[in-house]
Amino acid sequence: MYTVRQAGVDDLPGVRAVARRFGNLGGWPQRPDYLDRELANGRLLAGFAGDDVTGFGATFVRGGLLHLADLFVLPEHQSSGLGRALLSALLPRDAPRVTFASSDPRALALYVRQGMRPVTPLMYLRGPLAALPDPGLRPADASVEEIADLDADASGGRRTADLAWYAGLPGVSAHRVGDGYAMVRETAGGLLVGPAGGRTTRACADAVLAVLARFRSAGTARLCVLGPNPLLPLLLEARFTIADLDQFLSSGGDPVALDRYLPHPDLG
Ligand SMILES: CC(C)(COP(=O)(O)OP(=O)(O)OC[C@H]1O[C@@H](n2cnc3c(N)ncnc32)[C@H](O)[C@@H]1OP(=O)(O)O)[C@@H](O)C(=O)NCCC(=O)NCCS
Repeated sequence: MYTVRQAGVDDLPGVRAVARRFGNLGGWPQRPDYLDRELANGRLLAGFAGDDVTGFGATFVRGGLLHLADLFVLPEHQSSGLGRALLSALLPRDAPRVTFASSDPRALALYVRQGMRPVTPLMYLRGPLAALPDPGLRPADASVEEIADLDADASGGRRTADLAWYAGLPGVSAHRVGDGYAMVRETAGGLLVGPAGGRTTRACADAVLAVLARFRSAGTARLCVLGPNPLLPLLLEARFTIADLDQFLSSGGDPVALDRYLPHPDLG
């Protein structure tokens, strides 16, 4: 009943219509957005009922690690096997893989059956910058080349081309603080932080806090924080709120440094 294939440019409006149904493009008011990047990378699959796009899925690659970034099926087509078909086409057997799963039991069940296990919650935090401590460190503007090693170490694999693409978007900048780094995007809704991380837990926290202090005039910030990261209690004490909650799943081997890596919500 459903067919699954690599999406082409002509399929993108249909894919976008599905993504919009789930509010996925709220953080991307202008093109190019992360769906353009998934398409350009050749890692965007569309699912069809006849000629109509009814679902899609996509991955980003970091070295040998696959990040499952998207899996969405229109509500009227859910629970009919399309999600499972997209997933098995997206994920080659035995490749190390991670994802952020929603609370939909079908997503969790499919991912566990595809070799992943829930590891820790991932919290999407949003809050005011005014009350945060300033570590007194000055972030240096950095090129993608200057942060690529740190990002690979913390995130589980190298993705210099994706970082360079992101760094080229309006409002995006990269910063280094000692052995830590952070990419940020200045948006109308405040500062979006991530990916960010460091060689040590402390280097990660210092880099993120230093960048938040530097961009204090943005008013508010959004960050994705994994359960073991010590920034989590600090941000909640400073009255950040949990805007959304996913589960981080991994196929094993601890590829992502849970206590010293803050992913980007869509790029992983
Ligand atoms: C999650 C989603 C992509 C799955 O796609 P789908 O086409 O609905 O799912 P499928 O029909 O292919 O598979 C669902 C599986 O979950 C199983 N399932 C359903 N409810 C379950 C439950 N409560 N516990 C365990 N397994 C369950 C079904 O048995 C089915 O497996 P089977 O086909 O082997 O029997 C889709 O439902 C969706 O878009 N949900 C909303 C958006 C979302 O949360 N996406 C995930 C982002 S991480």
